[in-house]
Amino acid sequence: MPVIRFVREGRDVECYPGENLRDVALREGVELYGLKGKLGNCGGCGQCITCFVEVVGESSPGSLSPRTAVEERKLQRRPQEWRLACQSLVQHSVLVLTRPQAGLGDAEARIAAAKAEPLPAGPTAWPVAESEAEGAAEEPQQGQQPEALALEQPGSGESTTADEEA
Ligand code: FES
Repeated sequence: MPVIRFVREGRDVECYPGENLRDVALREGVELYGLKGKLGNCGGCGQCITCFVEVVGESSPGSLSPRTAVEERKLQRRPQEWRLACQSLVQHSVLVLTRPQAGLGDAEARIAAAKAEPLPAGPTAWPVAESEAEGAAEEPQQGQQPEALALEQPGSGESTTADEEA
């Protein structure tokens, strides 16, 4: 599982690969928003530009999905490391600083400490439940005919296939 290290909060949070960064932060009680965003945000549509996060360091190339067209437009005058949490999907473990516009008194020390501790890489696909894996194994491959339906002859103990019946 990827780990999101929230530098400001000093917390590591696990999530599934592909989860939305804003959704994970809200679920875990991590405050993404400054005052403006708390008073009113777009709910994750990429319109209010209040859910800034900064991807910290070089630890994270490819850790988040690439910038969306919305981010390219909305973040034109912001640092390249800034992202909109609502537009970012977590693919690998990543260090993020929430509310980078708010500043952080001991930022350098906290960032250095966060970078010093290694992050697990995490998988890049959703885990597959056992029942799903079994179901997939039984499904016929593309171009392969499904096995004929076995029908039991009443009282005979023998079975025939639907093809033989026809
Ligand atoms: S929540 Fe509005 S831009 Fe992300």
